[in-house]
Amino acid sequence: MKFQALPGVFDILPEDPKNPWKSSFLWQYVEEKARILSKNFEFEEIRTPLFERTELFARSVGEETDIVSKEMYTFEDRGQRSLTLRPEGTAPVIRAFLEKGLQHSLPKKYYYISSMFRYERAQKGRYRQHHQFGAEAFGIKSPAQDAEIIHLACSLYQTLGLKNLNVSLNCLGDTSVRETYHKELVTYFSDIQDSLSQESQTRLKVNPLRILDSKQQEDINALKKAPSILDFLDKDSLDYFNEVQYYLSNLDIAYSVNPKLVRGLDYYTGTVFEIITEDLGAQSSLGGGGRYDHLIQKLGGPDIPAVGFGTGLERILQTMLTQNVSLPEPSTPLVALIPLGDQAFSKCFILASQLRTQGFAIHMDFRKRSLNKAMQQADQMNARYALVLGERELETKQVDIKDLSTGQKTAIHLDNIIPFLTKAS
Ligand code: HAM
Repeated sequence: MKFQALPGVFDILPEDPKNPWKSSFLWQYVEEKARILSKNFEFEEIRTPLFERTELFARSVGEETDIVSKEMYTFEDRGQRSLTLRPEGTAPVIRAFLEKGLQHSLPKKYYYISSMFRYERAQKGRYRQHHQFGAEAFGIKSPAQDAEIIHLACSLYQTLGLKNLNVSLNCLGDTSVRETYHKELVTYFSDIQDSLSQESQTRLKVNPLRILDSKQQEDINALKKAPSILDFLDKDSLDYFNEVQYYLSNLDIAYSVNPKLVRGLDYYTGTVFEIITEDLGAQSSLGGGGRYDHLIQKLGGPDIPAVGFGTGLERILQTMLTQNVSLPEPSTPLVALIPLGDQAFSKCFILASQLRTQGFAIHMDFRKRSLNKAMQQADQMNARYALVLGERELETKQVDIKDLSTGQKTAIHLDNIIPFLTKAS
């Protein structure tokens, strides 16, 4: 029997020429940039388990959302607990934060790079296991904090060279605003129920706000005249929302207000956003997030405001390749050590380990190949130098180190290799 990866999941190999975005050196590059930026923005890394109690996600993301009602990988463990592979990162971070009693040392800012699991219809940009870089800021209710979160996401895209992005921005107001708006929407859609798509007719009963998100043609027509949430915002919410926009403009972040942006998770209040690119096909959302001021309390904690975002690494990498941004080269060895003969082999083996522990990337092939083949291989691997060690070199301890791009040879004593390489690297 031949085993294959399951639908909607994929392997990340050192290099994948057919699907370059699945090459691990590119993932490392993106992750490294995300880590550096997080540090600069004062977000600290948090790692939570891959699975949690199902109830955590049902309570936070919302029973009526697609994620909870259709997409979770839920199973019972041997202790008869209902567990779920995390479909998103926010709820687990809150669980860990409350469990460790960190609510007493606010504010706190966390980031994570983790895999998420959703049983979705797999297609380009949409997978059953995807990877998110996410950030969560607990304890500050300020438009500056919302803008900082959006800025962190945009800074990552910018650092990676992504272009043509737009932040789609909305404000969902607080609970009372949403309740009034909810009623207004139900009245509006109930009157034109028959013209809605089947899916939206169902949503009208369980989660009418989500109709605003529909991409179906019959709904798009109905949505044109739908009431806008912005008309229901109280003065405080409006002032807050205007200030978020003020900061974004000052940061030169391109955004547009989209009153129909509602997001697929139920925990948001106030500011919500998605970062959109036209270069991803149907899955145009590169990242998204927003404020969730009541979620920590809902999960058993005190009343602590919070805001965060998550961005899919698959979508970032695919957009980088579509947009032809300049990419890093795969890492290559600094030196290829080429032994000629058994004695030289032992010497090279020890030398390789000494140099590696000193921080140099060293290639040595254990197949004892001919000089020609070994040189060819060093070239193919793009090693910067080749060092051939034969009987004569063992005796004199004098070696030639060859620069493979220029062909130039430098004679050095074996004892001086480390200073030479330190200078060269
Ligand atoms: P989300 O919008 O569901 O939000 O996911 C965030 C990002 O993850 C999306 O914009 C997309 O790039 C990526 N993504 C989601 N599902 C998939 C998938 N099936 N395949 C590939 N990529 C995907 C959240 O998960 C929230 N927890 C974000 C957040 C953090 N809000 C506040 N804090």
